[in-house]
Amino acid sequence: MSRRLLVTSALPYANGPLHIGHLLEYIQCDIWVRYQRLAGNQCQWVWADDAHGTPIMLRAEAEGITPEALIARVKTEHERDIAGFLLSPDNFHTTHSDENCEISRDIYQRLKAAGHIVTRTISQLYDQERDMFLPDRYVKGECPNCGTEDQYGDNCENCSATYDATDLVNPISQVSGSAPVKRDSEQYFFALGNFTAMLREWTRSGTLQPEIANKLNEWLESGLQDWDISRNAPYFGFEIPDAPGKYFYVWLDAPIGYMASHRHLAERTGEDWQAAWQPGSDVELYHFIGKDIANFHGLFWPAMLEGAGFRKPNGVFCHGFLTVDGQKMSKSRGTSITVDTWLQHLDAESLRYYFAAKLSPSVVDMNLNLDDYVTRVNADLVGKVVNIASRCAGFITKRFDGRLAAVWPEGQRADYEHLVGARHMIMDYYEEREFGKAMREIMVLAEHANTWINDAEPWVLIKDPERAAEVQGICTVGLNYFRVIATYLAPVLPELAAKTEAFLNTRLSLKELETPLVDHAIERYVPMMTRIDPVQVEKVLEATRNAAPPPTVALASANTLAVEALSDEITIEDFQKVDLRVARIIEAKPVDGADKLIELTLDIGLETRTVFAGIKAAYAPEDLVGRHTVMVANLKPRKMRFGVSSGMVLAAGPGGSELFVLTPDEGATPGMRVK
Ligand code: 2FM
Ligand code: ZN
Repeated sequence: MSRRLLVTSALPYANGPLHIGHLLEYIQCDIWVRYQRLAGNQCQWVWADDAHGTPIMLRAEAEGITPEALIARVKTEHERDIAGFLLSPDNFHTTHSDENCEISRDIYQRLKAAGHIVTRTISQLYDQERDMFLPDRYVKGECPNCGTEDQYGDNCENCSATYDATDLVNPISQVSGSAPVKRDSEQYFFALGNFTAMLREWTRSGTLQPEIANKLNEWLESGLQDWDISRNAPYFGFEIPDAPGKYFYVWLDAPIGYMASHRHLAERTGEDWQAAWQPGSDVELYHFIGKDIANFHGLFWPAMLEGAGFRKPNGVFCHGFLTVDGQKMSKSRGTSITVDTWLQHLDAESLRYYFAAKLSPSVVDMNLNLDDYVTRVNADLVGKVVNIASRCAGFITKRFDGRLAAVWPEGQRADYEHLVGARHMIMDYYEEREFGKAMREIMVLAEHANTWINDAEPWVLIKDPERAAEVQGICTVGLNYFRVIATYLAPVLPELAAKTEAFLNTRLSLKELETPLVDHAIERYVPMMTRIDPVQVEKVLEATRNAAPPPTVALASANTLAVEALSDEITIEDFQKVDLRVARIIEAKPVDGADKLIELTLDIGLETRTVFAGIKAAYAPEDLVGRHTVMVANLKPRKMRFGVSSGMVLAAGPGGSELFVLTPDEGATPGMRVK
């Protein structure tokens, strides 16, 4: 009997473009969903944009449009990218929908009725200029623990202390540049602790990968805190029933967006969507997510579902992050590649295959090594897979009027059965999300097929008119091998599968493989895939490096403003106190135990300086060596955990990977004063 599955992938925020980091998740979800369908199961993928929250509200404001207009525009862009990468969701909705509003309020009312909602008055930072409470990422100040300046409202990049934004010393609102004040307000909390016993059991029941269960166990061990699910106006989201001016926090209604998208889909399919969400439903529910949001899906979400009387997921599949050529994605290095840029120079299936070849069910990070990508795709897909078809097709078309042999050649049955028999192992690998193992197994079969054709040498035999029938037989076997391999690869390479169906004039399905195609007309072969030219990869990197920064305010998914408010006036005398010097970076190295820092050795003419700069998310140390930059040379030396920092290097941008170290024009030499 066929299984029924409901699958989701994480909902991208509706305020920026999709990039290849997003694709790592969506591609693996798509492969699994397509595999399920190929295996004959009923599998639906429900998905949406995550449309609420402060960053979206502020971004829309900065662009001078309504949030509704912003999320509508971004949704169209996301849909274009989804189609471009051959992703096959059954529905792509938005969390800003009537369905989601109704279900979110219903779940909230159910939780409240069951006693799981509590209210409490808390103190938060309030921006009086903008009349808004400030989320942690919108306030910076001095770390209450070590005094480092310019730290966000939740943790310190220097000493790693975590704290409340209200503890920051001299806080500054990143929205207006003004000093916020503390203000009390009543908030609504979800009593997560009520679900501790259930979560202890559920997280260990095989629904989570062991490493994720272990991580969440740390939360369970330290005691689950009430979770603040409300935000004060102004906020772009759903108002909480009977609580004017209070909105659901985006993370409350985001996962409910899975249900809402399913409900929206049901309008088209006519299915009973609610039945799938009842406890005991035989529909299997799975979520694909990144490891950074495991707590939401492994603790908060199952607790919300349980508390509101709904079923819980059968599995949460977490993946690691994507690095490109060993580095975190960065615009300046050209590796923060958007889906759109990728598709302008390269194709979707090559990346789908590369990811598949490297994926496993573990949570480890994945590196996209661009040289390896070119080599592997050219060797495997062009050199091994498509090659089978291109070597056999010409003879059938030109010499046999486009017809496969009338009967299956004698003595070829066992090999073919071996190939078809491999489907059990390959499908099991797909089921287990062992995509890398599945790809390796398929490539072994493709190599076998190539060797067989090499040994059979149809191009030699064709010269002998008496052996024509033999050649037709060899090519018939070769093309049937190709049919099997294209079927196995169909979850990863749906376009190749469609082209194969058109070429072989048949539908690819696992069941039909048992009967090889004989006495059958095929179409003329048109090349199905071409080699990747490394120049195209270079073009992607260059286009990414050159991508103009967004017009006014850059708010990708980073909750930071690229355009900060101007500071108060100072006099020329004030400015002259700052001794700015041209410096040459003579050494740059990572700092043990500090993720964000690079230790720079700077030549400033008369002396060298050591400076710890928080620029690791934006630069690889080796890329900095030899560069000229500008430093504050008379900044009071600061003792840090790792050593003394004697000065500061100047960089522009909101922080994280969005930082741009300043460089003087050519000709400036170390030690020159900057005036
Ligand atoms: O982390 C993110 O990008 C969120 N927008 C994911 C939401 S997934 C689900 F819970 F809605
Ligand atoms: Zn600190």
